[in-house]
Formats: sequence, C-alpha cells, structure tokens
Amino acid sequence: MRKITNICCIGAGYVGGPTMAVVAKQCPDIKVTIVDLNEARIAAWNDPDVNNIPVYEPGLSEVVAEARGRNLFFSTDVDQAIAEAEMVFISVNTPTKTYGSGKGMGADLKWIELCARQIARVSTSDKIIVEKSTLPVRTAEAVRDILHNTGSGVKFQVLSNPEFLAEGTAVEDLLSPDRVLIGGDDSEEGQEAIAALVDVYANWIPRERILTTNVWSSELSKLVANAFLAQRISSINAISELCEKTEANINEVSRAIGTDSRIGPKFLKASVGFGGSCFQKDILNLVYISRSFGLQEVADYWEQVIIMNNHQRKRFALNIVKSLYNTVSGKKIAFLGWAFKKDTNDTRESAAIYVADELLNEQAFIQVYDPKVQTEQIYHDLEYLETRSVESNRNGVSVYQDPYEACDGAHAIAVLTEWDEFKNYDWQKIYAKMLKPAKIFDGRNVLDHKALREIGFQVNGIGV
Ligand code: NAD
Ligand code: UGA
Repeated sequence: MRKITNICCIGAGYVGGPTMAVVAKQCPDIKVTIVDLNEARIAAWNDPDVNNIPVYEPGLSEVVAEARGRNLFFSTDVDQAIAEAEMVFISVNTPTKTYGSGKGMGADLKWIELCARQIARVSTSDKIIVEKSTLPVRTAEAVRDILHNTGSGVKFQVLSNPEFLAEGTAVEDLLSPDRVLIGGDDSEEGQEAIAALVDVYANWIPRERILTTNVWSSELSKLVANAFLAQRISSINAISELCEKTEANINEVSRAIGTDSRIGPKFLKASVGFGGSCFQKDILNLVYISRSFGLQEVADYWEQVIIMNNHQRKRFALNIVKSLYNTVSGKKIAFLGWAFKKDTNDTRESAAIYVADELLNEQAFIQVYDPKVQTEQIYHDLEYLETRSVESNRNGVSVYQDPYEACDGAHAIAVLTEWDEFKNYDWQKIYAKMLKPAKIFDGRNVLDHKALREIGFQVNGIGV
C-alpha cells in the first residue's frame, strides 16, 4: 500500500484550515500544504502572530503554532502544491446556486469542477483525490469524468471523505471524532486508495471509528447527517411555539423526551432558529436531488425543516414588534450576539441577520455587540440580502465593542447567540440604563430569567 507523505488541500476555509492543521499536527511525517486563491486569507494563515489566523476556533492557534513551518504550509501556489502531492483534498465552498437552473436549491459545483480541471491540468504523477467538501450524491462521477479524460496517462482515484466537524468545537471534533467516513471504489485500486487514507487517520483515530463505504453512500450520508441534525432542531422549535400557547416549558419537554435513550439529549435545544453555512444549503440540496428524481413526497418532507426554521426566525422578530406595542419604528433594539453559534466568528446564515432584516423593515435601530464578529462583516451580511440600500443598513445598525454601550438607551435586548459571557453581565447595571419597561427576548434561553425578572426586566424566552 502507498504510504502518503505529501498532502495538498485546496481551500483554506473553515474546513480546510482546521482539518489539515490537525492532520499536520498528528502526522509530523506528512507534509501538508493548504492552498487557496484568496491571497488575504493565506496571508492571514501565515501571520507571524498566530492569534490573527482567519478562523477563530478554540485551540486552533495552538495547533497551527505547533505544525506551521514544520510540516504545515499555507500557499497561493495551487499548481505547485497539487503537482507535488500524492493525495489532494478538495475543500472548497459548495454554496447554494444563485442563478440558472436549480437557483436557490441545488449546490453550485463550479469551484469543484475548477479544482478537478486544475488537478487534471497540472498532474504528472498518480494521485488520490479526496472530496472533503459536502457534495450532492454522485458528484464523484463528474470529478472522475474530468480526471479520467486527460490523455496524460496519470491515474486518479476519487474518494469521498466528508467532514462532520461543528464550528466552535472543530479542534475537539477533529482530534476525537465519533467517526471518520471514507467512501471509495470497489475495485482493487479503489480499495488501495481507501487504505491509504485510513492509514493517515489511523495515526490518531481508532480503526473501529473509521467507516468505509462505497462513494455514493459516503456522499449521501453527509447530506443526511446534516438533515437529521437540523430536523431535530426544527422539531423542537415547532414544539416551542406550542409550549408558548399551553404553559408547557420547552426546556422541560426537551429533558423529558431526551432522556429516552432512543431519542437522546443532543440537538434538542430550542432556539431562534439554526444558522451556519451548511444546514440550510445541504437540506435544500437534498430536496433538490429528491425532486430531480421525481420523489415529491421525500422532497416535501425535508423541505418542511427549512420552512419551520424560517418561521421560527420570523416569529421571534414579530414577537419583539408585538410586545413593543406593535411598533418598533425609531426604537432601539440591542442585539447580543451576531455569530450563528457561540465560539465562532462565522456569521453565515445566522438567525441574527434575518431577525435584523425583519426589524429594519419595521424601522427599528439595531445596536449590535458580538465578542468575535467584526463590524464590516455585520454590514456585509445585511448587504448580501439586498433588502435595502447599503446606506439604509448603515443608518439602521450600529456596532459596539462593549455590550453595556450596545444596551444603553435600548427599549429591548434580543439575545441571538448563546455566548457564555452574556450570563455573567451586570444585568442590574444594564437595566438601569434601558428605557422602561425593559424587555429581553432570549432567543437562546441562556439567561437566568428568574433573576432578570427580579431585577425588573420583562423576559420572553423561546417556548418558556
Ligand atoms: P469556505 O468558504 O470557508 O472556504 C472555502 C475556500 O475555498 C475559500 O477560501 C475559497 O477562496 C477557496 N477556493 C474556492 N475555489 C478555489 C479554487 N479553485 N482554488 C483554490 N481555492 C479555492 O468554506 P468552508 O466552510 O470551509 O466549507 C467548505 C466545504 O466544506 C463546503 O462544501 C461545506 O459544505 C463543507 N463543510 C463545512 C463545514 C463548516 O463547518 N463550515 C463543516 C463540514 C463540511
Ligand atoms: C453542523 C453539524 O453539527 C456538523 O456535524 C457538520 O459538519 C456541519 O454542520 C457542516 O456540515 O457544516 P455547525 O453548523 O458548525 O455544524 O454547528 P451546529 O452545532 O450543528 O449548530 C448549527 C446551528 O444549529 C447553530 O445555529 C446552533 O445554534 C443551532 N442549534 C444547534 C440549535 O438551535 N439547537 C441545538 O440543539 C443545536
């Protein structure tokens, strides 16, 4: 079996960066080069101050500090890194298509295809190509088609090795995953390629946690895993609305059902709605694929997960309006949190964006504080929606570096991200500086509602 000594990863984003940094840390004998077209991103990964790397993840700077310059390299020379590697991971973005057929539903695979063509063009030695990005089932067919028709005589094997890390716990998830999934061909060469990749992971992951399947099962399992996780959130969020009508408490319901070992306690936390770059994109993709095979009921079933999530976000925003006497025009609403979850600076598809959009439509002024998200990112997220002019977004939203200033003079506070620090604020001090009645809308059920009510706040949670 071929022992891998040189790996290239195309894409230095939230997946490529942490994943390959951990591979380099755990496999000092393998040279790992992460490449990207984005020069600023690569420069940030190479920043002498390791705290300036472009992805914030607990423990990641330490991993990068250990391996960078030893056997971990970041570069914009994509051709050279591909040419030298025995194994090439493709970890580029696969967003929802924004044009043409499949617009708003299917995955845009143009970056995947560009990678395949680039690999085909520059390779002069045999290589194992690993799909790390999340892809529609049967994408490997297209990748193979491009790679097997170069006429160069170079041989390629295509594997699927989807990533299951969650942001905020990426390093922990990579060091100790529930499982690693590798899909490959049934042929002898396919099995050899699988064995070579298993061997890389076996440097730190017990073999029984490394699952191998055919390529299509692996590609599809990634979409299905995300669909199942998101489905649990939409299910509990649906029940949260019913709780609000019946005086049942969603936290108690979650605990009551989650202690059934067949259901389990994880992913039953009611919220303002799930965000992140993947759940929505991957479910839309699943829906699109099902529909393209004529499986209408299957498509409709999974689409409901998205419909419920959109409803939960909108319902949260409208509840703020309703509770502020049916108008927020000219009122200040403080947002605590903008990231899509705690411990990350990632804001993609964050519920905060959609709640802000809804409140800006109602002419509210929004004062945002998030411990890790940069000011320009917040404006960029709103501009991306194209709901109103750039100027209107900037007039309607102010960003603060201090949570107390963000809440100063506000009519209401909305908690959009479950950052731990929110629990430890001096809520008495915040209360003193707000307009009365001072309202809190806890979109994550993270604050101590009883203590807040004792201070004088009017508190609304989710499903409580
Ligand atoms: P990202 O946008 O953070 O990073 C992708 C990077 O690829 C970008 O820096 C981009 O410049 C680069 N790129 C695109 N085309 C390129 C090319 N031809 N050559 C060189 N570089 C190129 O995306 P991400 O969050 O890292 O996600 C990547 C994939 O992993 C997606 O398919 C996603 O669904 C999947 N995934 C993401 C997560 C997550 O937590 N973010 C988890 C599991 C799986
Ligand atoms: C998710 C999956 O958990 C990963 O396994 C997967 O690899 C990744 O998507 C991906 O493919 O991108 P991630 O989106 O980083 O990871 O974070 P999660 O912890 O899954 O949270 C997603 C969203 O759901 C967040 O907005 C979070 O606040 C919300 N959530 C999560 C809830 O509202 N309730 C819960 O009980 C759990």
